[in-house]
Amino acid sequence: MERIIVSGGVPINGKISIAGAKNAALPLLATSLLTDAPVILRNVPDLNDITQMLNLLDHHGANVDFDKSQKTCTLQVSSITDHVAPYDIVRKMRASILVLGPILARDGEVKVSFPGGCAIGTRPVNMHIDGLRALGAEISVANGHIHAVAPKKGLIGADFAMPMVSVTATENLLMAATLAQGRTVIRNAAKEPEVCDLARCLVKMGAKIYGIGSDTLVVHGVERLHGVDHTIIPDRIEAATYAVGAAITHGKVLLENVIFDDLSVFWESLEKAGARIVKIPRQTKSVDSEFEIANVQVEMTQDIRGTDVITGPFPGFPTDLQAQFMALMTICSGAALITETIFENRFMHVLELCRMGADITVHGGSALVRGVKWLTGTQVMATDIRASVSLVLAGAATSGTTEIRRIYHIDRGYEHIEKKLQACGVNIERAAA
Ligand code: EPZ
Repeated sequence: MERIIVSGGVPINGKISIAGAKNAALPLLATSLLTDAPVILRNVPDLNDITQMLNLLDHHGANVDFDKSQKTCTLQVSSITDHVAPYDIVRKMRASILVLGPILARDGEVKVSFPGGCAIGTRPVNMHIDGLRALGAEISVANGHIHAVAPKKGLIGADFAMPMVSVTATENLLMAATLAQGRTVIRNAAKEPEVCDLARCLVKMGAKIYGIGSDTLVVHGVERLHGVDHTIIPDRIEAATYAVGAAITHGKVLLENVIFDDLSVFWESLEKAGARIVKIPRQTKSVDSEFEIANVQVEMTQDIRGTDVITGPFPGFPTDLQAQFMALMTICSGAALITETIFENRFMHVLELCRMGADITVHGGSALVRGVKWLTGTQVMATDIRASVSLVLAGAATSGTTEIRRIYHIDRGYEHIEKKLQACGVNIERAAA
C-alpha cells in the first residue's frame, strides 16, 4: 500500500485552492436517482469517495460522464436497472446508504447492503430506517441487507422527529420526501452547509422544501423532479484543515474559495489559539446569492496557545476538524481539553500522535493534550480520513521525517494533497509501499 513521507519543519507558505465539498457532492450525486432527466454538477472534487459513488450509480443504471478537467459531472438515470446496492461497493463507503431514499422514492423498492461500522464508531443507520418507515415504507433487515418497499401508491408524507442530529439520515429522508405524497416535516434535522446545498439543489429540481438552514424542514411532495445544473459549495473541512496546516507550521496561507461564515466556531478557536485570520472578499459574485465565497488568509506568528474545543452538530465545532485541531494542540504552550460528542471512537489518531512524542491522555469522550516543545518524525498509520490528515499536519510541523501508511484514507477526502502542500513549500511525497 502507498505511503506519504513528510520531511517537516518548514512553514506552509502559499496559496491553496479549495475544492468542492465531498460531503455535499455525495448526496448531490444521489439526486440523479430521483429523476430521468440529466443532472449536471459542477465543482466536483476528484476524490476516491466520488469515484466510489459514481461506480455505485453506474451499477444502478446511471449514465455517468465525469470531466475531471472541468470538474463537471453529468449523470442521467433514464431508468434504474438494478435495485440492489451490493456489499462490495457499500463496504468501501458508508455514504452508499444515500441511494436508499432516492431509489425507494422513485421505484418503490430497494435493497442496500447493511453498511458496516468503521474506525470512528459503530455508526448505526436506525434513523435512516425509522425515518423511511415513517413515510410508509416496509423495511426489513436480513442477510446483511436493508430491504425497503414503499406502499403501492408511493411514500406518504409524515411528521418525523430525529432522535439525534444525523447528516446523512436527514439527507436520505429529505430526498425521499420530495416525491412522497403530501407534507413531510423533518424535525431536529441536520443543518450542516452540505445538507443546505443538497436542499437548494433539490428545490432547483422542482422540489418544494421550506426551512432550509433550520432544524425543521418542511417538504411538499411533487409528482416528479426535473434536471438541474448545480455548482457544489467549497469544502469547508478541506479549507479548515489547511488553515491548521498554516498554524501548526507557523506559516501563512491564502485559502481560495471559502464560505467564511460556515466555519465561525472554528475560526474563533483558531484565533484563540493564536492565528491571525483575515477574510478577503471577492469582487465576483458568488455562485449563489445566499452565501458569499471569499478568500481567507491564515497566519501564525506567535506561540500556539492551548485552546479547548467541544465538537457538536453545525454550527458547533465540526467533528471532522477535531483530529486536525488536536494535532495543533500537541505543540501548544499550555494544554487543551478536546471533547468529541459526535462519534464514540474518534480518537484513533491519539496513539499515532503519541508515537510522535505528543502528550495526550484520553478519558471517555475527552482528550487532555499537554503541549510539548516539539514532535519527532516516525512511522505512523492512518485510520480514517481526518485522523490521517492530522498526521500529515503533525509531520509537516516536525523537523524529522514522518512516514504515514494506509493513505488510501487521505485520498478519500483530500484532492491532490501532496501537490497542494508541495506548492506551499512542504517536502512531501507519495511512495509505493
Ligand atoms: C456525516 O456522516 C459525514 N459524512 C461525516 O464526515 C461527518 O463526520 C458526520 O456527518 C457528522 O458531521 C458524510 O456526509 C458523507 P451522522 P454521517 O449520521 O451522516 C449517529 C468525513 O470525515 N447515528 O451525522 O454518517 C452516529 O453514530 C465523514 O468526511 C445513529 O445513531 O454522520 C453518530 O454518532 C466522517 N443512527 C451521530 O449519529 C443513525 O441512523 C452523527 O452521525 C445515524 C447516525
